[in-house]
Amino acid sequence: MSKVAVVTGGIGGLGTAMCKALIESGRRAVAVDYNGLKPEAVEKWQADRKAEGFEIPVYLADVTDFSSCAEACKKIEAEVGPIEILINNAGITRDAMFHKMTAEQWDQVIKTNLYSVFNMTKQVYDGMVARGWGRIVNISSVNGLRGQAGQSNYSATKAAIYGFNKALAQECVKKGVTVNSISPGYIGTEMVRAIREDVLAKVIAGIPAARLGEPSEIARTVVFLSADEAGYITGEDITVNGGLYYH
Ligand code: CAA
Repeated sequence: MSKVAVVTGGIGGLGTAMCKALIESGRRAVAVDYNGLKPEAVEKWQADRKAEGFEIPVYLADVTDFSSCAEACKKIEAEVGPIEILINNAGITRDAMFHKMTAEQWDQVIKTNLYSVFNMTKQVYDGMVARGWGRIVNISSVNGLRGQAGQSNYSATKAAIYGFNKALAQECVKKGVTVNSISPGYIGTEMVRAIREDVLAKVIAGIPAARLGEPSEIARTVVFLSADEAGYITGEDITVNGGLYYH
């Protein structure tokens, strides 16, 4: 049987590409997305994927809430199978220069981008260790590595992922479970396209590759890190950013 891969933020720009690439690599992808989404939006997403030849179950949860994640993962394990691959991809931005940042903008980003990693990983970790196989891939960001003005909240969560991964990787590598991250640069998703036009033009001008990345360029890295053959890579981060980090 194909291994079950859960992708949080699964119906978003990056998540959709990840689900499709995981299926193409022989996994069974399950999308987990926000329980505040309208049912019509989920149905449309599933119909669009079906038209492309992908059957992808969607489970709704609030990744900021531990019990909501527990409930969703329990349901997935009962209805689809044990979760052997977890891609913690759900994330939001609430950009503001620090002097203008509100406590609410800080909280929302910390809870969605960082608490979610604990809330989801905790549901699947014991099972992975008990079965002696697991792949956890956390999606960080170039802005976790280098910091970005206007993103002290977001950069803090993305940098936190490196510490979490390096610690957890040491705990479970002997049990066949790896914990890695990917740090995307600016990818052509709704999140990036929401940046003010003049600001985005400056961002793109600063990318050595002179273009935004494609979601598929992140998805193929997810497939690489979650492969059966990737068992000797752990606590590692792969940057996929068009050379931006080095600029
Ligand atoms: N470094 C230092 N200072 C900067 C700066 C930078 N990169 N960008 C702007 N500033 C300065 C400006 O020069 C300006 O200074 P003055 O007031 O002295 O003129 C001041 O900061 C205010 O700039 P803005 O006019 O842009 O302020 P704003 O309040 O209208 O907007 C903002 C603030 C929303 C943060 C906006 O600057 C912005 O959107 N910046 C881009 C942030 C960004 O890159 N976000 C990434 C989102 S995508 C993502 O996160 C995915 C991923 O992982 C890569």
